[in-house]
Amino acid sequence: MSIILENIGYAYEDRFRVLDNINLEIKDNENIAIIGRNGAGKTTMVKLICGLLKPTNGNIIIDDINIKTLTTAKVAKNVGYVFQNPDDQIFHNTVYGEIAFAPKVLKFDEAKTKKVIDQAIEITQISDILDENPYELPLSVRKFVTIASVLSMDTKVIILDEPTAGQDYNGIKILENMLIELKKLGKTVITITHDMEFVANNFDNIIIMADKKILKQGNKESIFGDIELLNKSNLKQPVIASLAHQLGIKSDIIKMDDFVDFIIKNKVVHE
Ligand SMILES: Nc1ncnc2c1ncn2[C@@H]1O[C@H](COP(=O)(O)OP(=O)(O)O)[C@@H](O)[C@H]1O
Ligand SMILES: [Mg+2]
Repeated sequence: MSIILENIGYAYEDRFRVLDNINLEIKDNENIAIIGRNGAGKTTMVKLICGLLKPTNGNIIIDDINIKTLTTAKVAKNVGYVFQNPDDQIFHNTVYGEIAFAPKVLKFDEAKTKKVIDQAIEITQISDILDENPYELPLSVRKFVTIASVLSMDTKVIILDEPTAGQDYNGIKILENMLIELKKLGKTVITITHDMEFVANNFDNIIIMADKKILKQGNKESIFGDIELLNKSNLKQPVIASLAHQLGIKSDIIKMDDFVDFIIKNKVVHE
């Protein structure tokens, strides 16, 4: 599913302007990351895309339909949003109940219900906590419960608002694998994150937001090689990019693998 934002502006209560002149195109089955300091407007922008907020000005076109003409419930059938704070999204007293809710509301038939629930559980790797009360689980795990509850809606677009927050190494691995699986399933996925290593390792299409605007959209070399832009946006380079930069060896090394390749190719390391 493709998404186009045309000259979008948004002001809370019609007074507090937090987005200005946002233009963006996300293609079908794309995997895109949004970065930017706190308060940059990332959450507001994705809440506009999923229909929870209505733009003050501008248009949002999803697969050729201006979502102005649709109810929030209609938009939600196509765009699933995983809230930044899982507690805004959990209503049931078992993990399974949480995941099984959407297929019931959406009146999926038995076969489809089983398929989407099994898939959501598998992708988020939560099969061993299905009987637990979500509120008794740590925040990082509650996040996976809410991701599963959105996956079971089987939307074509999935928005993940800060899924990396508070995740340990294992949580990050599950998220990385999840992005691969969702891509295979043909989903369009938008991920907001503060984890620059996660972005460097998993995305080749990145949007950087600050001061109510999109400052730049580009691949990881163009985003993480632009130190002036990162400084202006109060973001740091991934560690490897920073190391390569400080050693003055090459500006477009972002990931560990590329760094190792460079060292080996140039025989920087001698036995
Ligand atoms: N309900 C609200 N009412 C008024 N201002 C808000 C509300 N929610 C967010 N804001 C403000 O909008 C700006 C953008 O917030 P947000 O979209 O949450 O940014 P981000 O997700 O990038 O941290 C911030 O200045 C924030 O304080
Ligand atoms: Mg936010």
